[in-house]
Amino acid sequence: MSVTNFPAGSSSASTRIPITKVTVPTLAEMKRQGKPISALTAYDYSSSRLADEAGIDLLLVGDSLAMVVLGHENTMAVTVDEMLHHTRAVRRAVRRALVVADMPFGSYHGSVAEGLANAGRVVKEAGADAVKIEGPRVELVRALTEAEISVGGHLGLTPQSVHRMGGYRVQARSAETASRLKDDALALADAGAGAVVLEGVPREVAAEIAAELPVPTIGIGAGPDCDGQILVFHDLLNLTFAPPAKFVRRYADAGGLIRSAIEHYREDVEHRAFPSDEESYHLAPAVRQALDGVARKETLRKA
Ligand code: KIV
Repeated sequence: MSVTNFPAGSSSASTRIPITKVTVPTLAEMKRQGKPISALTAYDYSSSRLADEAGIDLLLVGDSLAMVVLGHENTMAVTVDEMLHHTRAVRRAVRRALVVADMPFGSYHGSVAEGLANAGRVVKEAGADAVKIEGPRVELVRALTEAEISVGGHLGLTPQSVHRMGGYRVQARSAETASRLKDDALALADAGAGAVVLEGVPREVAAEIAAELPVPTIGIGAGPDCDGQILVFHDLLNLTFAPPAKFVRRYADAGGLIRSAIEHYREDVEHRAFPSDEESYHLAPAVRQALDGVARKETLRKA
């Protein structure tokens, strides 16, 4: 058993990060002040708690969990119930960051009413601070905003449209598609989106949108001029099993570290080097003596 809860009265003094909850207005203020927003995906308790304590501003329970956590080929398979399950774990871990949960494929594509109902579950049953939806779904963003559900948009390379796009391809490369992307971003902001993720678009296009949009843009594969940046947790730490995309920077080789620690453990078990005597529980001397006495009597009785 390992204790993972927050001890009563604990503070994050050890990390010297003040616990002032990040909210949607905080992000707007950061944009106003030109202060970059740090964002990362999150899927479980321990990694979310580490990311929160490291001072990340926004944690996204991304539907990328379908691939990096659940091993699916793309994001399409993940369900509302799975998103709820992971969002609850992240919610329990996070005290400072804004917790945003992705609305999974099929949970808002049918109708605005369906989107509203599912987003309501994500906020009410899992405790997300906000939801994120892909595509220029302006009507749904307006309805969510009117229903007091904070919402972020996601434009450009939208993984839930992988079949329509014919793969994961950089979007908005022509003047026409770039201008359409900007119009979509402005329409989402106008409808109430608190931020817009721009994924897989040329730097120049993202820069222009970031400059014109009244709400923060969070980039992934969109260059350095967005108001914030987001990466997938597993990409940042090399916990994936394929070569990284061009925009990924690996900050550590956690995959290598974990693999070598597990190999070391296995070898120790195989060589009886684990556990040691110090890693074992022991009887109190009096109990041990009494037990030895019982064993001696038993041996004499049998002799
Ligand atoms: O699901 C995801 O990981 C995302 C990205 C924007 C990081 O939506």
